[in-house]
Amino acid sequence: GDDELRQWIVDAKAALGDRVQILGHFYQRDEIIEHADFVGDSFMLAQAAKSHPEAEAFVFCGVHFMAETADILSDAHQAVILPNLAAGCSMADMATIEQVEDCWRELTAALGEAPGPDGRQPVIPVTYMNSSAAIKAFCGRNGGIVCTSSNARTVLEWAFERGQRVVFFPDQHLGRNTAKAMGISEDLMPLWRPHLALGGNTIEQLEASRVILWNGFCSVHKRFTVAQIEQARSEYPGVRVIVHPECPAAVVEAADGAGSTEYIRKEIEAAQPGDVIAVGTEINLVNRLQEQHPELTIFCLDPVVCPCSTMYRIHPAYLAWTLESLLAGEEPNRIRVADSVAEDSRVALERMLAARP
Ligand code: 13P
Ligand code: SF4
Repeated sequence: GDDELRQWIVDAKAALGDRVQILGHFYQRDEIIEHADFVGDSFMLAQAAKSHPEAEAFVFCGVHFMAETADILSDAHQAVILPNLAAGCSMADMATIEQVEDCWRELTAALGEAPGPDGRQPVIPVTYMNSSAAIKAFCGRNGGIVCTSSNARTVLEWAFERGQRVVFFPDQHLGRNTAKAMGISEDLMPLWRPHLALGGNTIEQLEASRVILWNGFCSVHKRFTVAQIEQARSEYPGVRVIVHPECPAAVVEAADGAGSTEYIRKEIEAAQPGDVIAVGTEINLVNRLQEQHPELTIFCLDPVVCPCSTMYRIHPAYLAWTLESLLAGEEPNRIRVADSVAEDSRVALERMLAARP
């Protein structure tokens, strides 16, 4: 039963001690989070993988691209283990390295490669953390950078110092919301559809553009609507609405605030007893925040339960099995990014870690 499984995990973890660090993303279910040594948003988890030189292994309770990043940023001898290899991210899968390279070939052919009179490149590639290591490596090789939802604006500013334009992979919503907040007009943000020549744009549109948005999205966050926000405001006058920037632009605009999962957590920490807060993000995080804050009313904007199905694939049974295997001296489900890919991705990730507002 559940209690037996819990005890199994507790015992195995105690036997492993400090040799193993369990990292958990905020969207993990409670039965995983209770065992985590560290819980955070994707930026904090990347930093955590860099700052535990004593650990022999990280058990990464999150999704595949996050585990890849942990492998890239941790020391070579440290194992990063993903308890269920089927825990991917459907948004990250919306851009393959082949498609990104095709896009880049077309863009550089259309826009040129020589820097302009101000020394800036025609276009700088920026990838959201939610992408494969191969795409991060591509950005590292081509003067680009990685961002997360907690530093997207800082990163775009970094990119505009070096480029006249940005091509942003793979989440159109984070790219659009961030660029809009910087005052860039939506007219200057063409969408790149990977199966069409020039992404479905004319050369003139690309030349005039500031941010070229890859046509990806998160199927969890794209469900949130302005109608849900209106409904929440009519039911709870005075409600504060906070959403993740993977939501569509109209939703972010209608909300009172938008930011990463850590931003959402902090906003709730800062609320006053009696406050009502409607949240537009994954349901496991929203429910946990409500459990932790009985003095507040917190609910998910989407009345139909809204989990990230791939985050949910990290079931406690997989965690138990992973810890048991480590105890037996095995390293199952180890995520290993090839050295050449890791080296170039590290360039793009280190640029992100060094970029400051
Ligand atoms: P955060 O960086 O806010 O943790 O977001 C990661 C993610 O996958 C959101 O869907
Ligand atoms: Fe990917 Fe969306 Fe799940 Fe985040 S919530 S891991 S973007 S599918």
